[in-house]
Amino acid sequence: MQAQHYDDPLKCKVVQEFELRFGRDTACRAPAVVVRAPGRVNLIGEHTDYNDGFVLPMAIDRAVWIAARPRDDRSVVCYSLDFGQVVEFALDSVRENTAHKRSEWYEYLKGVAWVLQQAGHELRGWEGVMAGDIPIGAGLSSSAALEMATARLFAAISDLPWDPPTMARLGQRAENEWVGVNCGIMDQMISALGKVGHALLIDCRSLETEAVPLPPDTAVVVLDTATRRGLVGSAYNERRAQCEAAARLFGVPALRDVSVDMFEAHADTLDEVTRRRARHVVTENARTLRAVEAMRRGDAIAMGRLMNESHVSLRDDFEVSSRELNQMVQCALRQSTCYGARMTGAGFGGCAVALVRAGAAYAFAASVAECYRSATGIAPNIYVCAATNGAEVVSLP
Ligand code: GLA
Repeated sequence: MQAQHYDDPLKCKVVQEFELRFGRDTACRAPAVVVRAPGRVNLIGEHTDYNDGFVLPMAIDRAVWIAARPRDDRSVVCYSLDFGQVVEFALDSVRENTAHKRSEWYEYLKGVAWVLQQAGHELRGWEGVMAGDIPIGAGLSSSAALEMATARLFAAISDLPWDPPTMARLGQRAENEWVGVNCGIMDQMISALGKVGHALLIDCRSLETEAVPLPPDTAVVVLDTATRRGLVGSAYNERRAQCEAAARLFGVPALRDVSVDMFEAHADTLDEVTRRRARHVVTENARTLRAVEAMRRGDAIAMGRLMNESHVSLRDDFEVSSRELNQMVQCALRQSTCYGARMTGAGFGGCAVALVRAGAAYAFAASVAECYRSATGIAPNIYVCAATNGAEVVSLP
C-alpha cells in the first residue's frame, strides 16, 4: 500500500486527538492508519449521472480525515471532532438493514460497515478520530467523502482489495439504502478516484474514467450562495422520475442513449415539461464531451462558454437553479477574469462554480463576494480550490 504524504492541519489534528484519546500501542504507534477522502465540485455534466450519462467533476482540497487503529473485539469506536461526539457499535449489530432514513453522521459509518459486510467482506473493528473541512449541506459532497473515507479505512484495516469503482458503488448503496438518500454515482466515484491537477470524465454507465488536466493558468473557484433548500430531495426525485419517463417515451434504457439529433427529430411528440427535461440531459451530455475536448486542447474560453450554456439549460430547461444561484453566476460573469460559471450539484441552493484566470482568483473571489452581498444581502462563502487525489491512505507523521 503506497501512502501519500500530506502536510495538512487536519491530519495533524486527528493524529493529536487520537493520541490524547487512545494513546500508543505496544509498538509505540499512535495511530496505525490515517486516511483522507475529498469532497468534490462538478465542472460540467449536471443531473446526467442517473441518466447513465457523462460527468466531469474534480476532487477538491477539502476532505474527511480519519486516524485509526484496529481493535480485536469487532467493534468500532469513533470520535468526531466536528460533532464533539463518540459513536460505538458492534460490527455484528449492522449485519441487517432494518430502517430506511437515518441522517446522523455516524449512520454513514454504520451504512458503510453494513454494505461491506453485505458484499461478503470480513471486517475488523477499529478505534479512531475523524474531522473534516467540507462544509456540510453545501453541495460539495461531504456525505460521499465520509462514506469513501470510511470505506478506505475499513479496507486498509481489514486488508480488503481497494478497487475504487466497486467501492464507490458500495458507498452509493450505503447512501441510498442505509441513509435513505437517492443519489447518483458521481459523488462517490470522484471522491474515490480524483487525481491531483485533473478533473475526471466519468461514464456513469460503464464507470470508465479518464483524468483530464485543467486548462493551464486557470483556477476553479467555488461560490457558495449560503442558501439551502429543504425541498431538494423531493425535487431531485421528481426530476429523476421525469427523466425515466422521457427515456421510456424514446424507447431506450436511459436518456444517455438519446443523441441530440434523435431528440430533435422526436421533440414535438413530447409534452412541454418532458421535452425540456430531456433537452437538458441530452444537450448536457453532449456539452460534457465537448468540454473534455476543450480541456484537452487547454482551451479555457471554450470550456467557459460550455459552462455558461450548462447554467442556462439547468435554469430554464431543468429548472433546478434559484434566484441566488442565478445572481451568483451573474456576479461571476461580470468579472473580466472569468471564463465561465454555472450552478453545480443538485441545485435549488448551494454552490456555483467558476473557471477563472489563475493569477486573478483571489481578486475575483473578493469582487464576486461584494457583488453578491450587495445584490442579495447574504454573505457568501468562496473557496479557491485545487484538484486533489481521491480516497487514500496517508503516510504517518
Ligand atoms: C447530487 C447527487 C449526484 C448528482 C447531482 C446532480 O449531487 O448526489 O449524484 O445527481 O446531484 O448532478
